[in-house]
This record gives sequence, C-alpha cells and structure tokens, in this order.
Amino acid sequence: MLKKKVLVTGGAGFIGGNFVQYMVDKYPHYDIFNLDLLTYAGDLMKHRDLEQKENYHFVKADIADREVILSLFEKVQFDYVVHFAAESHVDRSITDPGIFVQTNVVGTQVLLEASKQIGISKFVHVSTDEVYGELDFDPTTFFTEDTPIQPNSPYSASKAASDLLVRSYHETYGLPINITRCSNNYGPYHFPEKLIPLTISRVLNDQKVPVYGDGKNIRDWLHVLDHCIAIDLVLHEGVTGEVYNIGGHNEKTNLEVVKTIISTLGKSEDLIEFVKDRLGHDKRYAIDPTKLEKLGWEPTYTFETGIAQTIQWYLDNKEWWEQIINGEYQNYFEKQYSK
Ligand code: NAD
Ligand code: DAU
Repeated sequence: MLKKKVLVTGGAGFIGGNFVQYMVDKYPHYDIFNLDLLTYAGDLMKHRDLEQKENYHFVKADIADREVILSLFEKVQFDYVVHFAAESHVDRSITDPGIFVQTNVVGTQVLLEASKQIGISKFVHVSTDEVYGELDFDPTTFFTEDTPIQPNSPYSASKAASDLLVRSYHETYGLPINITRCSNNYGPYHFPEKLIPLTISRVLNDQKVPVYGDGKNIRDWLHVLDHCIAIDLVLHEGVTGEVYNIGGHNEKTNLEVVKTIISTLGKSEDLIEFVKDRLGHDKRYAIDPTKLEKLGWEPTYTFETGIAQTIQWYLDNKEWWEQIINGEYQNYFEKQYSK
C-alpha cells in the first residue's frame, strides 16, 4: 500500500476534526498531520483517542505564518494538502472582517506557495456554497459549479478570494488542485455558535433560541460524515483543476430545523425567540451535486437520520459543549445577541 503524508489544516475544528478522525482510521498507512492554530473554534479534546495512534501528528501553527509554513513543508515533504483552516462564522465576519482576510485569503496563499515549492500531488481547497451568493425561493433552482461567484458577506467574500487564488495557482503554475463547495454541515463537534448546535444546547438548558428575521431563510443541510466521504473521494479521484459541489438535497427553513430539534427533545416552541435579522442575510442555498455523484458519491444520511444522530451525540457528549459555552463563549453570546 502506498504511504502518503497528508497535511490537514484546521483539523482541530468541526469539519477538519471529523475529517482527521475519518482519515486516521481509514488509512492507517498514511501519516495524517493536523495543523491548527487552536483559535476559539479549535480544540484537541476531540482528539484524545488519537493521541496514541502512530499515524496521527499535531502541529500548532498559523497558516498565515509564511516562514513557519515554508520550513514545515520543506521538512516533511507532504504529498497531499486538505485545507479546512479558516475563520468560518458569518456573524463574526460582519463584526470583525479583518481576520477573515488574514486567515482565509493570506493563509491560503501561503499554503499554495509552500505546496508549489515542494511540488505536492494534490491540494484540496475546502470551500463553501456561500461563494455563489444566494438563490431565491424557487425550489427548482440550484447552485451548480458554473453558477457565478457572487459572495454577500465578508466571510463568503474571503472564501471566494481564496478560491480564485487556488484556481490561479493551477492555471499559472500547474498546481494540482480541487476546490469543493459544500452546503451547511451539521453533526458531532459542531461549535455551538452555529444554528443547529446553538439550538440543541440552548433547548437542553431551557433557554430561548434566537431565530433571525422571520425564520424562513433556507439552508441545505449535510451531515459532516458525508462531507468527509466526499472530500476523501475528491482527494483520490477528483479530476485535477475541477470544482465539485457537495450537498444532499436537504433544504429546510431555519424555523423547520429549530422546531424539529425542539420536538425531538420534547420541549415547547415557546423557546423560539424571533430576533433582529442578520445583515445581508442570504435567502436560500441549495446544491446540485450531480457532478460529484458522477464521481461515485452519495450521502449516507437523510436530514431525519442525521439530525437524530446529532441530537443524541450532543446528549451523550455534554462535557465537550458545556466546557465551551461556559467559557469565553458567554461574552461572545451576550455581545452578538444584544445588538
Ligand atoms: P471551524 O471554525 O469549526 O474550524 C476552523 C479551524 O481552523 C479551527 O480549528 C481553528 O482553530 C483553525 N484555524 C483558524 N485560523 C487558523 C489559522 N490562522 N491557522 C491555523 N488554523 C486556524 O470551521 P468548520 O465549520 O469546520 O469549517 C472548516 C472549513 O470548511 C472552512 O474552510 C469553511 O469555510 C468550510 N465550510 C464549512 C461549512 C460549514 O457548514 N461549517 C460548509 C462548507 C464549507
Ligand atoms: O453554507 C455553508 C456555510 O454554512 C459555511 O460556509 C459556514 O462556514 C457555516 O457557518 C454556515 O453558514 P450559515 O451562515 O448558513 O450558518 P449558521 O449556522 O450561522 O446559520 C444558519 C442559518 O440560521 C442562517 O440562515 C442564519 C440562521 N441563524 C443563525 C444563528 C447563529 C439564526 O436564525 N439564528 C442564529 O442564532
């Protein structure tokens, strides 16, 4: 079996963390390097079971630190890079956009440059459907890989900028890349600032759930494991230079999502509190995954099976999320929702 050295950036966060666990288990003959700065969104508690594994390695570093990244690449000579590290929360990008440019744009360019210098075999850039902007409520329209890039928030603009840099390194220098654009993820280790884990944790504590605007905005939800399976497929089978959209046709209004969680936990809908809308709030996201399906991918979860599994995971892993919401998160929550 071919041994590979795989750099996963952002592997202490939600999706990167699930991906690291998936890869360490699935490819015992690969060396998986998790590089993460451990910002507010990253933690190593989730990887306690990996510490003893010989094929797992952790590096604490900032992807935007050119010197450190270049010397790490020179030293390890990675075969593959799977790039998740980012500032990922839209609300935070509205309050403080600068760090989104630094991490998402500058950090991505540093990784591209280092990858070019050592001649890696594949760079998978994990992007988002938000770079396409928003759809209206016509249920027959979807984002395809050919939908124009039209980001609306500082977060999605910074991701779009990074996508274009990745494309340019392929077109100009022939760097072997793929870009993936996934819809909203949910599942284990989702940080409780995002809608689904925020709702689960607050409902479990009998606290009000803030719903922006009228709650009719639509998101297309994908279980994080199905995202990991898709990225693995793109890493190994994706046609170099191509973009792949990832989504499983699970469109729900925010209100539907919140009500599903409340009823699964046997609580009252009185917990719903409509609050001031998000600035520039995208109406609807919906993915056409045909291109990825042709590569052999299909989701293993429906929204119904995935949300049930996720709620159960939050019930079984209170220690993880309670430790987060009892820390600095409280200040964030108060500031964000008192506006
Ligand atoms: P997250 O916020 O949970 O995790 C981000 C991780 O990146 C954290 O561990 C953090 O410590 C690390 N990080 C941040 N800045 C860094 C830096 N300068 N150097 C090194 N590490 C740094 O994010 P997520 O939700 O897991 O998203 C991961 C990726 O997937 C992002 O690129 C995001 O744009 C993309 N994405 C997310 C979703 C979603 O629904 N969450 C959907 C599609 C695409
Ligand atoms: O589509 C992919 C994107 O999904 C990723 O690129 C982002 O990294 C990820 O954070 C997510 O972005 P969203 O903005 O869609 O996710 P969020 O969980 O923040 O919000 C989901 C919907 O719920 C959105 O319409 C806003 C609404 N919402 C969110 C919060 C936090 C509320 O109504 N109340 C809230 O308190």
